[in-house]
Amino acid sequence: MRWQSLILSIWPAFAAIVAAEDGSEGWLRYASVPCNAHCRQNLPSRIITLNATDSSPIETAGKELQDGLQSIFGKNVSIVQSGCHDSSSIVITTVYDYRRLCNSTDEIPELEEDGFWLSAQGDTVHILGQNSRGALYGAFEYLSMLAQGNFSDVAYPSNPHAQIRWVNQWDNMDGSIERGYAGPSIFFADGKIVDDLSRAKQYARMLSSVRINAIIVNNVNANATLLSTANMDGLRRIADVMRPYGVQVGISLNFASPIDFGGLDTYDPLDESVVSWWQDITDQLYDRVPDLAGYLVKASSEGQPGPDTYNRTLAEGANLFARTLQPYGGVLMFRAFVYDHHISEDNWRNDRANAAVEFFKPLDAKFEDNVVIQIKYGPIDFQVREPPSPLFANLRKTNVAIELQVTQEYLGQQCHLVYLPPLWKSITDFDLRIDNATSPVRDVVSGQHFKRPLGGWAAVVNVGTNTTWLGSHLSMSNLYAYGRMAWDPTADSVQILQDWTRLTFSQDRAVLDTITGMSMASWPAYENYSGNLGIQTLTDILYTHYGPNPASQDGNGWGQWTRADGKYIGMDRTLWNGTGFSSQYPAEVAARFENIETTPDNLLLWFHHVPYTQRLRSGKTVIQHFYDAHYTGAETAHGFVSQWETLRGRIDRRRYNETRFRLVYQAGHAIVWRDAINMFYYNLSGIPDEAGRVGHHPWRIEAEDMTLDGYVPYAVSPFETASGATAIVTESNSTAGTAETTLGFSAGVYDLVVNYYDQYGGKSHWTVYINDRVIGWWEGDNEDSLGYSPSIYLDGHSATRITFPRVRIRRGDRLRIVGRPDGVEPAPVDYVALLPAGLVD
Ligand SMILES: *[C@@H]1O[C@H](CO)[C@@H](O)[C@H](O)[C@H]1NC(C)=O
Ligand SMILES: *[C@@H]1O[C@H](CO)[C@@H](O)[C@H](O)[C@H]1NC(C)=O
Ligand SMILES: *[C@@H]1O[C@H](CO)[C@@H](O)[C@H](O)[C@H]1NC(C)=O
Ligand SMILES: *[C@@H]1O[C@H](CO)[C@@H](O)[C@H](O)[C@H]1NC(C)=O
Ligand SMILES: *[C@@H]1O[C@H](CO)[C@@H](O)[C@H](O)[C@H]1NC(C)=O
Ligand SMILES: *[C@@H]1O[C@H](CO)[C@@H](O)[C@H](O)[C@H]1NC(C)=O
Ligand SMILES: *[C@@H]1O[C@H](CO)[C@@H](O)[C@H](O)[C@H]1NC(C)=O
Ligand SMILES: *[C@@H]1O[C@H](CO)[C@@H](O)[C@H](O)[C@H]1NC(C)=O
Ligand SMILES: *[C@@H]1O[C@H](CO)[C@@H](O)[C@H](O)[C@H]1NC(C)=O
Ligand SMILES: *[C@@H]1O[C@H](CO)[C@@H](O)[C@H](O)[C@H]1NC(C)=O
Ligand SMILES: *[C@@H]1O[C@H](CO)[C@@H](O)[C@H](O)[C@H]1NC(C)=O
Ligand SMILES: *[C@@H]1O[C@H](CO)[C@@H](O)[C@H](O)[C@H]1NC(C)=O
Repeated sequence: MRWQSLILSIWPAFAAIVAAEDGSEGWLRYASVPCNAHCRQNLPSRIITLNATDSSPIETAGKELQDGLQSIFGKNVSIVQSGCHDSSSIVITTVYDYRRLCNSTDEIPELEEDGFWLSAQGDTVHILGQNSRGALYGAFEYLSMLAQGNFSDVAYPSNPHAQIRWVNQWDNMDGSIERGYAGPSIFFADGKIVDDLSRAKQYARMLSSVRINAIIVNNVNANATLLSTANMDGLRRIADVMRPYGVQVGISLNFASPIDFGGLDTYDPLDESVVSWWQDITDQLYDRVPDLAGYLVKASSEGQPGPDTYNRTLAEGANLFARTLQPYGGVLMFRAFVYDHHISEDNWRNDRANAAVEFFKPLDAKFEDNVVIQIKYGPIDFQVREPPSPLFANLRKTNVAIELQVTQEYLGQQCHLVYLPPLWKSITDFDLRIDNATSPVRDVVSGQHFKRPLGGWAAVVNVGTNTTWLGSHLSMSNLYAYGRMAWDPTADSVQILQDWTRLTFSQDRAVLDTITGMSMASWPAYENYSGNLGIQTLTDILYTHYGPNPASQDGNGWGQWTRADGKYIGMDRTLWNGTGFSSQYPAEVAARFENIETTPDNLLLWFHHVPYTQRLRSGKTVIQHFYDAHYTGAETAHGFVSQWETLRGRIDRRRYNETRFRLVYQAGHAIVWRDAINMFYYNLSGIPDEAGRVGHHPWRIEAEDMTLDGYVPYAVSPFETASGATAIVTESNSTAGTAETTLGFSAGVYDLVVNYYDQYGGKSHWTVYINDRVIGWWEGDNEDSLGYSPSIYLDGHSATRITFPRVRIRRGDRLRIVGRPDGVEPAPVDYVALLPAGLVD
């Protein structure tokens, strides 16, 4: 949506002093920080990098410190390669080299792999890594302190919670990105690795600054052509630009590559020719990338080939790759996302959530030591609320990692603000009560609980060519926080967010408080308006995983069922009467979820099939809670806009404006969600909203009720994604249509709202008039302004709202919308609303 409002924005004069920012620096802007004479005296004047070989992370750290000090304080600091005890210097190296080269006997605590020691006493700073990567992490930590205006004397070690801290890009070889919402791939185009890897280098810098140590560069739904000689050479180039940042590269493999690409007639993991083919591929890769992190494999899942083709177990499949990696110390990440997507809902006991434990538990102890089972945080698929995957409690002799999504699939696709750490913590802090003892998920994934040699974290990330990396400035807090949590999952969500905010925007208290308030309310709000009480994100699971479509959950083999009918809703996952899923948890947790009285409300419908009239702890019925939560959730999202607007002039204009645009869009789409979900369940249950809101919109005028010329009514599917189930579209895709009505509202000042549909495949143009006065016009160009447009249909994905604030009308005024179609987009309109000040509807 692009608009021209008749109200011009007036910017406070001081906005001009804030430099133009495009988001490309993320949280590594190193904006200038006030520093008086005393502070300047305490700044080091030399950087000493010891034993820094070319392109080593220590050399990178030296340059990063130099650039940072220049940018934050305007101080030009030289880099030298020797010296040990000089004051006014930053010594940066590994502990090992420091001891040897400086004859040091300083007490430095024992560090874990990748850990570091940071000591800053006035202008004398020591940054010592357990390895060179750790030294670079220490340099970023020191710079982060300075960039936040923190000049405290410190001396402390910092160690990672887990060794594996990876990101997974789902980039395809043609340059598209699965679940990508920020432009095409920075790695691939036209089946090849791109020539210009400067963005890949900057990405490595950002990852390194939050201590991510490896990246899988291609989609888990992998294409075997990545293994061509030219592409392997390309992978070498990627690894070469990322290595100076301590970021190792790995790739996803397609199980069927020996046939698809190798010309063999089998991909049986136990066949000798297959084993030697893969060993040869691995040798060729390590020849080019000696520090390749390893492989990621999605097998026997959602139509992907796997060992089951040959009646081999998943362990036999995983071990094939693991053994080829062992000579090189590589890791094989094997996804636990294996399930049958053709199960029948007719069988009450069928449950996709059971699949992971059923497939993997019998294989415990059958995996090689360098295999890590990568487990999605919940048993289904990145939903807004899930209990932790019970597989975490069921693999005692196998390494595991947790899979999170920075990519906001199911969670607003970066068009909605949803700060994710509170969701992640609902999983990683969850105490599984393994053997009736304290056992938070975070300690299982680190390997600590079962004393496993390996473990950790992986997150799907959809960084693309967009200048902002993720398409949205605010979504970057999730990428930052992911790295911080993988390093230290006990770190506080608010503190992480505030560090990010100070680095990304400003140290201004108002900026900090506002972004904190909005972000911390954002996941609860999204849960409220998308799907609450553990019913999952009620999105369209058969299409784009974005807008509302609750009916799509049921009646198909995918198993994301809600089992909603006229009287009941929820999955019965009890052992006594349902799918038995609850019994996959250790005894104490199983008992809690088995029993409706001890199941928390926010997971009620995940575990139990209940009548809509079931009472919650709040005393409300399930259905009334649905209605209320959808109203409050949408209202919270509306509040984000006015909260953000208090920051006008406190944030550079470009990022202020781009963020405001998305928040306005989100507020409108939250109403679409609210109305669709409420209408759907009202229609199904027949139980009215006690507060009388659902289905009653006194300030709306349905487009289909207006006088139409060149426009015709159109029955929208799913019905609940149009007010009154009907919209209007132009009769032809070349001639404009007009919809007109006489306003019966009393004279006053109203916000004029139009709900329309913005499909891709066209950019319609709408103008709205009161009498002959143009109130405003806009275009259906979300594909440009949001960076993508999720749907080619009129539905809950394309439904969009635009508001013209403070429009003066009189009773009897004529309101007219003229819509000019474009391409396949027939200038669709759902309804118009005239809202008295302060009303959200
Ligand atoms: C310097 O670094 C190299 C590898 O980067 C290492 O082999 C060597 O032991 C280090 N220390 C000294 C004192 O050279
Ligand atoms: C920093 O100082 C060096 C040596 O005096 C000089 O060559 C260089 O141009 C300076 N850099 C900046 C950014 O001022
Ligand atoms: C370390 O000790 C060696 C031998 O004792 C000496 O040659 C060298 O100069 C010392 N280095 C430093 C930096 O003190
Ligand atoms: C400064 O940074 C140190 C190390 O991260 C931290 O412990 C301390 O709380 C920070 N001080 C302030 C005032 O934020
Ligand atoms: C794999 O990549 C090749 C080369 O770019 C392309 O022709 C082919 O369609 C891709 N296969 C799949 C399944 O995407
Ligand atoms: C796998 O096992 C099934 C049933 O035991 C059998 O019908 C099938 O032929 C086997 N497939 C292979 C490739 O061995
Ligand atoms: C763990 O607790 C459950 C339920 O509270 C109990 O039935 C079981 O005996 C306990 N198991 C052990 C090993 O203590
Ligand atoms: C980045 O995305 C925004 C929409 O979010 C779009 O307007 C802009 O053109 C994109 N920029 C680049 C360089 O892709
Ligand atoms: C038990 O399961 C049956 C289906 O087998 C279902 O119809 C019934 O509602 C369930 N009972 C309870 C109390 O949930
Ligand atoms: C979510 O909905 C509940 C129930 O209406 C409400 O109490 C809570 O404040 C809402 N939270 C947000 C952030 O909207
Ligand atoms: C604000 O953003 C909108 C939409 O992205 C754009 O059309 C407009 O030109 C921007 N205005 C300023 C002042 O940057
Ligand atoms: C008009 O719509 C028809 C049917 O949807 C489509 O085939 C045609 O390509 C459209 N015309 C234009 C100019 O896009």
